[in-house]
Amino acid sequence: MLAANKQWANDIKEADPQYFIRAAQEQKPELLWVGCADSRVGPDQLIGLPMGSIFVHRNIGNIFATNDLNSLAVLEYAIDELQVPNVMVCGHYGCGGVHAALTHSGIQPVDLWLDQIRFIYQRHEPELARLNEQQRWDRLAELNVEAQVHNICRNTVVREAWKRGQEVNVIGLIYDIHDGRLKQLGLEFRSQAEWQARYGEGRQ
Ligand code: CO
Repeated sequence: MLAANKQWANDIKEADPQYFIRAAQEQKPELLWVGCADSRVGPDQLIGLPMGSIFVHRNIGNIFATNDLNSLAVLEYAIDELQVPNVMVCGHYGCGGVHAALTHSGIQPVDLWLDQIRFIYQRHEPELARLNEQQRWDRLAELNVEAQVHNICRNTVVREAWKRGQEVNVIGLIYDIHDGRLKQLGLEFRSQAEWQARYGEGRQ
């Protein structure tokens, strides 16, 4: 890995001698990526953006947990300091975290973390109970993306940014590990008004 790193750094310097001088000065990412820690879902490669384009937050099950200081600090820093115009929640089919939430529970740290997905299952149980096992797994991954988009849109940092007219586009997508494609879920909110048009005044 050290040899590969040396090669990579040399290749970059050869192609663009100023690259590391510019990179050391500042970052100006265009996207905050909230994704799963799964090794098969690396954001830089799958959307083809160069290093320096994406501010990344990843954890098991791509959860934006409203009681998690890490998630909250990442969102605050991305929006208030880096002024990223896009926040993308990316779930994925075949997610082990979603599967674990569906199939067992317990008191180990990973179980407690995934309780947040179990609660989403409970809220949508009538719809999910009608599906077969595979469909249920896929659908819960989609509903999980929607829930995390919801958590981000109702966050004070996003609300305040929208109020002062800052561009913040919150998007939910799902990645299909079977064909490498990103799928839209009809989740895209650029203002409080767009959010309320979808969910109504009552759902804050
Ligand atoms: Co996953």
